Amino acid sequence: GAALGAAMSVFVTRRIPAEGLRVLSQASGCRVQQWDSEEPVPRAELLSRVAGTRGLLCLLSDRIDREVLDAAGPGLQVISTMSVGFDHLALDEIKKRGIRVGYTPDVLTDATAELSVALLLSACRRLPEAAEQVKSGGWTTWKPLWMCGYGLSDSTVGIIGLGRIGQAVARRLKPFGVKKFLYTGSGPKPESAAEFRAEFVPLMRLAEESDFVVVTCALTPATQGMCNKDFFSRMKKTSVFVNTSRGTVVNQEDLYDALSQGQIAAAGLDVTTPEPLPTDHPLLSLKNCVILPHIGSATYSTRSTMAVLAANNLLAGLRGEPMPHELKL
Ligand code: NDP
Ligand code: DGY
Repeated sequence: GAALGAAMSVFVTRRIPAEGLRVLSQASGCRVQQWDSEEPVPRAELLSRVAGTRGLLCLLSDRIDREVLDAAGPGLQVISTMSVGFDHLALDEIKKRGIRVGYTPDVLTDATAELSVALLLSACRRLPEAAEQVKSGGWTTWKPLWMCGYGLSDSTVGIIGLGRIGQAVARRLKPFGVKKFLYTGSGPKPESAAEFRAEFVPLMRLAEESDFVVVTCALTPATQGMCNKDFFSRMKKTSVFVNTSRGTVVNQEDLYDALSQGQIAAAGLDVTTPEPLPTDHPLLSLKNCVILPHIGSATYSTRSTMAVLAANNLLAGLRGEPMPHELKL
């Protein structure tokens, strides 16, 4: 009744697909407050708006740390992030306070894998650079030695993090004629690897043998800065590096050096440090680096599904029910 209604106050940190917001606003007894903007909620605003709420629906651009939890107060019961990544959440602190966490695995796997393949092909076949030549008049005639890149036929593909997205990337790349899949992670996963006959190898062997490296792992203390000078120096001059996980898995200075010195052939990044990447960043001056603005999951239907799932996670948590997708802390 009314008492429960008063208690079900939630704060949504951004404008989200309407289908998701509708789930919340139509839930009986749910009182929704929202930062109804395309831009992130300013930190001070977040700290003041979160006070006294029981539920928080946030995005990967909101850093949910001790300061936010303190500002929310002891009534905060559920945090639901509209993302599968949860590196923006201070999980230790959240767990200590007995707060439940919802997230959005599976529903974005296909969209993100598809984008990873698009980015890989854009980088290895030099699509943005070639398209630019058409506009600038650089296309003078068909030239045998012009705009050549590297293809997937007979290649070796190394997947860093053979999780949901990593497997979905491998599944899509296989029909291009990939000869061998390698992967790395915290340990071998024979069940996930069987479909691709993928071989579990140490990180540096993956760097040495792969023609394409695709990073699809989670950002953790172990993966932060993992793709560094050492890593790039082991890669072949003809190899292509793709990252659709989180920007800080890569040491960007080291990547810049590897790309500008011809240590590796090309890179495709959907994620950077910081986001957005400043428009004068050195990586943006390189022809052999394709950078996208974190659009892995950006299809209309995927974003709508993510928003609905995030809303349902939040409501289930507030009602003390099992969530469709709860992060086990
Ligand atoms: P999963 O949890 O299914 O996969 C993550 C993988 O990371 C696991 O297979 C895990 O392997 C691996 N991993 C963990 N530690 C290491 C390590 N030290 N070295 C190598 N691999 C490691 O998550 P998803 O596939 O659903 O998502 C993966 C990530 O993709 C998300 O965390 C998010 O950051 C990013 N993402 C980006 C998107 C975009 O828009 N660009 C969209 C969606 C997600 P193991 O089990 O062996 O530990
Ligand atoms: C995630 O969900 O973690 C992605 O980065 C955005 O969809």
